[in-house]
Amino acid sequence: MKGIVLAGGKGTRLYPLTKSISKQLLPVYDKPLVYYPISTLMLAGIREIAIIATPISLPLFERLLGTGEDWGVRFSYLEQEEPRGLAEAFLIAEDFINGDPVALALGDNIFYSAGLTGLLTEAAELTQGARIFASEVSDPTQFGVVGFDRNGMANSIVEKPTRPTSSWAVTGLYFYDSQVVEIARGVKPSERNELEITDVNRAYLDAGTLQVTRLPRGTAWLDAGTVDSLLQASQFVATLEARQRMKLSCPEEVAFRKGFISREDLLHLAASLKNEYGAYLRKISEGDQ
Ligand code: G1P
Repeated sequence: MKGIVLAGGKGTRLYPLTKSISKQLLPVYDKPLVYYPISTLMLAGIREIAIIATPISLPLFERLLGTGEDWGVRFSYLEQEEPRGLAEAFLIAEDFINGDPVALALGDNIFYSAGLTGLLTEAAELTQGARIFASEVSDPTQFGVVGFDRNGMANSIVEKPTRPTSSWAVTGLYFYDSQVVEIARGVKPSERNELEITDVNRAYLDAGTLQVTRLPRGTAWLDAGTVDSLLQASQFVATLEARQRMKLSCPEEVAFRKGFISREDLLHLAASLKNEYGAYLRKISEGDQ
């Protein structure tokens, strides 16, 4: 399974914060926002990851992330010239996907829960159909929304409905079989002139091959698309990290725990960061967490 982190978009809801820097490079407490979706894909066991960003920001992502070798993964960098919608990711990444199943993680989505690794690892085994994750939210009108029949089976999926049929929002983490490229090619631009990921998901729903996992209570799903949600995400991460003496979505730690890099590799990374972050990595390498 390959992975894509979509970090395009103009981030206009965050202006002036994002006038000169991409939203996904902004800090969420102690690390750049893009570290979180990258960690999510790595937790799923995915090691070949394409970063899609605007032509202006792409070199900045490259400077931040490099080849991926340090974390035992491989990053590719692809341009999205204009924000033409999430589903365009599959057209941009067609050569990268190269007929494999693929997971898409939105660059501003943060996931945290105890059982997450299990759910992700299972999802990454997918070879047929699609799997998405839904989470209960207080205002579903801001999201793609899944409706369910009496037996709890998904029977509708609508983008930002004015009258939502449930409070279950589609989160920004999607797993697809290799057909997704052809399906995305058939998607027509929506009213807001974007290729909607919801239309891709509806195609799988109509074909009877969409699996919807409802994230259980105790799962935190945050996005950081507005000034308030960005601050809330930082506060959430800061609170948990201070309280529990552990880091959330720390890619270096994930790489080590997943066996992508060795203890020596981690110590090397720790030595390059002469601050609290480096000290944390050293502690992890000593098995003190
Ligand atoms: C996008 C998707 C939406 C999904 C949301 C999750 O919304 O279109 O279906 O629920 O991401 O973050 P957008 O960020 O484009 O408004």
